[in-house]
Amino acid sequence: MPGSPDPSARPGYLSIRHLNKVFRVNDRRLQALLDINLDVEQGSFVTIVGASGCGKSTLLRIVAGLETGEGTVIHDGKPVEEPSLNRGLVFQEARLFPWLTVEQNVALGLENASADARTRERLVREHLELVSLTDFAKAYPRQLSGGMAQRVAIARGIVNRPGLLLLDEPFGALDAFTRAHLQDELQHIWEHEHLTALLVTHDVDEAVLLGNRVVVMSPRPGRIARVIDIPLAYPRDRRSPDLIYFRNQILDELDVIRGPRPVTGKARDIKVPA
Ligand SMILES: Nc1ncnc2c1ncn2[C@@H]1O[C@H](COP(=O)(O)OP(=O)(O)OP(=O)(O)O)[C@@H](O)[C@H]1O
Ligand SMILES: [Mg+2]
Repeated sequence: MPGSPDPSARPGYLSIRHLNKVFRVNDRRLQALLDINLDVEQGSFVTIVGASGCGKSTLLRIVAGLETGEGTVIHDGKPVEEPSLNRGLVFQEARLFPWLTVEQNVALGLENASADARTRERLVREHLELVSLTDFAKAYPRQLSGGMAQRVAIARGIVNRPGLLLLDEPFGALDAFTRAHLQDELQHIWEHEHLTALLVTHDVDEAVLLGNRVVVMSPRPGRIARVIDIPLAYPRDRRSPDLIYFRNQILDELDVIRGPRPVTGKARDIKVPA
C-alpha cells in the first residue's frame, strides 16, 4: 500500500532481506551469496555488477523463483516461491524455440495470460514494433542475427508487462556495436513502457549507462560491497563526463575488491623445479 510503513507491501516492490545461498559441491560448502539486502522500487532500473562467479546469476535466479535461498524475497507483496508471469526473464542467449517463428516465440510470453486471441495478436504485433522487428514476424530464429534474436527475447520478456523484468547479461554475447545499440533501445523501452528492471552484468559501462542504482558485488562469498545512485536523466549518453565520473567510482570500488596486484616481472622470486 502506498505510504505503508513496510515498503515490501507496496505494489511492484522487490525486497530482499538477509538472503543467503549455499551450494554443496563434492561435499564442500560453497557460500554463493552472503546476507544480501536489496530494495527495488517500482519503476526503477537497478543494475548489479561484479566479477565472474560473484553470485549475480544465482541472485537473479532466486528473485525469478527458479532457485531457492535462505532469507526473505518479497515481490509485489508476496514471497517469491516459484516463477511467475509477473517476473519476465531475459538471459545471455536468446533461448528461442527454433521451430517457432519470431511472432510465435514472442507469443510464448503470453502463454499463461488470460488475454483473448485478438488481444494476443495485437500485443505481439506492438512488441515486435517496439523492438523494430515487424518485418521479421514470420522469420525463424536461424534467419536472425544474434542481436535480432536478443530483441525477440526482450519482446517475449516484456509482452506480458511483468511487474519486474530480470535480465542476466542480456547483451554479453553480442559485439560492441550491437550491444551499444540494444542498450540504447532498452533505455528507451524502459522509460516509455514504465518498466521495473533488474539487470546483472560484468560490464561497468553498461551498469552505469542503464542503472539509476548500481549494486557492486564482491566474490567469495558473493556480497554487496557498495550501492551507488546514478541521479542522471535518461536517455543517457555514454560519452557524458557525468557518466564517466560514476563509472570511475565503480572501477575504483572494483579495484578495492580485487586488492593489491600481484608482484610481477623481475621482482618475483621464480623457483624453477629441480
Ligand atoms: N547449481 C550450482 N551448483 C553448484 N554451484 C553453483 C551452482 N550455480 C552456481 N554455483 C556457484 O555459485 C557461485 C556463483 O555463481 P553465479 O553463476 O551466480 O556467478 P555469476 O556472478 O553469475 O558469474 P558469471 O559472471 O560468470 O555469470 C560460483 O562459485 C558457482 O560455481
Ligand atoms: Mg552469471
